[in-house]
Amino acid sequence: MQRSSRLSGFYQLGQEERLDLVKSHCELDDATIKALKDSSALPFDLVNRLVENAIGGFTVPLGIATNMIIDGQDILIPMATEESSVIAAVGNTAKQCRETGGFFTSLSGTEMIAQVQIINLSDPWSARAKVLERKTEIAEICNACDPVLIKLGGGFRDLEVRIIDTRSGPMVVVHLIVDTRDAMGANAVNTMAETLAPKLSEWTGGKHHLRILSNLADRRVARARAVWQAETIGGAEIVQGIMAAADFADADPYRAATHNKGIMNGVSAVTLATGNDTRAIEAGAHAFAARTGRYRSLSHYEVTPEGNLAGSIELPMALGMVGGATKVHPTAQACLKILGVTSAAQLSGIAAAVGLAQNFGALKALATVGIQQGHMALHAQNVAIAAGAVGDEIALVAQRMADAKTIRQDVAESILVSLRQA
Ligand code: MEV
Repeated sequence: MQRSSRLSGFYQLGQEERLDLVKSHCELDDATIKALKDSSALPFDLVNRLVENAIGGFTVPLGIATNMIIDGQDILIPMATEESSVIAAVGNTAKQCRETGGFFTSLSGTEMIAQVQIINLSDPWSARAKVLERKTEIAEICNACDPVLIKLGGGFRDLEVRIIDTRSGPMVVVHLIVDTRDAMGANAVNTMAETLAPKLSEWTGGKHHLRILSNLADRRVARARAVWQAETIGGAEIVQGIMAAADFADADPYRAATHNKGIMNGVSAVTLATGNDTRAIEAGAHAFAARTGRYRSLSHYEVTPEGNLAGSIELPMALGMVGGATKVHPTAQACLKILGVTSAAQLSGIAAAVGLAQNFGALKALATVGIQQGHMALHAQNVAIAAGAVGDEIALVAQRMADAKTIRQDVAESILVSLRQA
């Protein structure tokens, strides 16, 4: 019988009571409930404050990428990811550019954009002019929303008013450009947009509608670059191979999506490890990749006059060091300590460098032996575990599957049976 998902009052219950309800609703056994109950490394109180209707936690592996030199500093990089090969690829790639100084980074600024949409206007150009006339007043209204931000040197910086054509007719879109310093800034700019919006309706005669930040944080663009010497990475042929791979991504959106996904394997893992919003970073990255009207690669590769490979990357990086989960999640705090960063700018440069490292690693593998060789060795271990292998059995089952060039759970299960019989 299908049960109703209408669990009235669920939000008011404690962990045990919520789990009891889920258990009976989904007919779960005790072992499953135990897996859910013991799932969190965080105290339930904290989990319950971070999200609604919490029943536990979900642990993602956290590892350290080694060998990274960023802006002259040796830095250990905490990365939270469930995907095998990702952390190893960053370390391998970083090792291959240590002799050229590693990665060099910069950030364009720490400004976020909040958008206010104004509709029902027959005279959008006049409305635009009226809003622009009030820049000083708008700055005052915005800055009054967040005295702490002002004290930290942030606050309103600029105003843009755009007119866009839509199926519902022309709309005026006001952009509040706000320096949010070391915060990602969503709360600060959303409050400003919501506070200002009624005034915008009053001044223009239109109707304010949506008031929310833009994740296309193109005033907060992180950049990273590195050079890999041809002889270190295997010669001119490999340089050419990586160039052809990069040019493919830049020319073809089907490839660019995968190429950029590889970049985000690195960026999102640092984002998650530091308690930042992975979806915000991903949305910003992909929108930025499409800013020319065609979805393209986020990274660029060139051959230097000496025949070496120069890689660079540029993408929006709205990462914060204060506020949200960053501040309250003890693991995120620990990861920030490992990184040793003191500003969002530094953190953003690191994430961009890790994205570039990840991308170089993937392109090099794809342009040479292919991705499966390294990937499959680790994947095989996961399949072995899923088949029930424990302890020493894991490596043995994985090895036998690799030897047989067949990595499947049914194969792992039969290897396991024969291992145990022997
Ligand atoms: C897999 O997670 C990422 C890659 O597909 C990236 C790429 O193809 O460039 C290997």
